[in-house]
Amino acid sequence: MSNLSEIQIQEIKFLDELLDQVIILDKSKNICCANKSAYNRFGSKLEGKNISSILRDAKLLDSIETSINQKKTQIVDVEVKKPNFQFYKASIIPGPSKLCNQEQSVIIFLKDLTEVFKTQKFKSDFVANVSHELRTPLQSIKLGLETINQGHATNDFESQKKFLPILLQQTSRMETLVSDLLSLSKIELEEHIRPTDKLDLKEIILHVVEIHKQIIKKNDISVDIKGEESKYIILGHRDRLVEVFTNLIDNAIKYSPKGKKIYISLVNNNESITVSIRDEGIGIPKKYIPRITERFFRVDPAKSKEVGGTGLGLAIVKHIANQHRAETDIKSEEGKGTEFILTFPNS
Ligand SMILES: Nc1ncnc2c1ncn2[C@@H]1O[C@H](COP(=O)(O)OP(=O)(O)OP(=O)(O)O)[C@@H](O)[C@H]1O
Ligand SMILES: [Mg+2]
Repeated sequence: MSNLSEIQIQEIKFLDELLDQVIILDKSKNICCANKSAYNRFGSKLEGKNISSILRDAKLLDSIETSINQKKTQIVDVEVKKPNFQFYKASIIPGPSKLCNQEQSVIIFLKDLTEVFKTQKFKSDFVANVSHELRTPLQSIKLGLETINQGHATNDFESQKKFLPILLQQTSRMETLVSDLLSLSKIELEEHIRPTDKLDLKEIILHVVEIHKQIIKKNDISVDIKGEESKYIILGHRDRLVEVFTNLIDNAIKYSPKGKKIYISLVNNNESITVSIRDEGIGIPKKYIPRITERFFRVDPAKSKEVGGTGLGLAIVKHIANQHRAETDIKSEEGKGTEFILTFPNS
């Protein structure tokens, strides 16, 4: 910056007000000056560095050459993969300019579209996942109906009857998926609204355990609840919390072999209330733990098919926890079990 003239300093000051990054290269593609946003993004010692050392992208380098040779502005998408994914729309304007009067210099304007790009990718992945998840049961239903309508079961009432449980099972799978999706989008819309009802977490957990009584008995599972001696009051939304504990207890049962135990504990210290739900089930491989709350993520899709489930349960839990300003933590060891911990702020 020290070699800049008064007029150049004025220009830079104006550029410093921009959120976009502006970088000016001399004829050797070395940075001769940059605005504040560029320094914040790429580091304070930019002068003299070659552009390829901060943005290594072949398309960008080609476009700089084209811009100089054709004396025309070039617009190009720039993707940086490491250390973090970044996506820019770059405008490369050929110099000379007030900021660099050398022939073959260029001004690069970078518009950071990383968040827009990520949101778009998330949306298109989501639509692809939903379509896939809906198509699978739909295909089974169609196949069953075709067999009844024109296949070998057309005139055979007994064979037709055999298809009915499959048709019903697949229809209810679709119904669950659609209602989970609706639930998820509703929670997302309300995530910023802080719940205001005073509720006792212990009462909700006991209610959810009661709902699961039959399946717990069927799987010969015993539930150990600690923390029944006091009240655990938080500001919450009852139906949503029922949904949280239903999903967690449902997972603890689903992913545990018969005859195991589920440990539920509540701890109230002055600042927060912690609920832990621990099972002695199949556990989650370490590498998958960070992905476990992603929509549709399942460790073993084949196992999920067998036990049922859409892979939306923990995504729903995560959003409801966020709405309650609760922190979530998952500890798990393959073959040993899983512990899901929720820490609510004390009301
Ligand atoms: N307690 C647990 N023990 C072992 N694995 C678990 C446990 N909880 C979740 N998982 C793994 O995490 C995945 C995602 O769980 P999630 O609850 O979101 O979906 P799901 O149980 O497959 O379906 P859904 O909850 O929508 O019926 C599961 O498929 C399973 O692989
Ligand atoms: Mg689940």
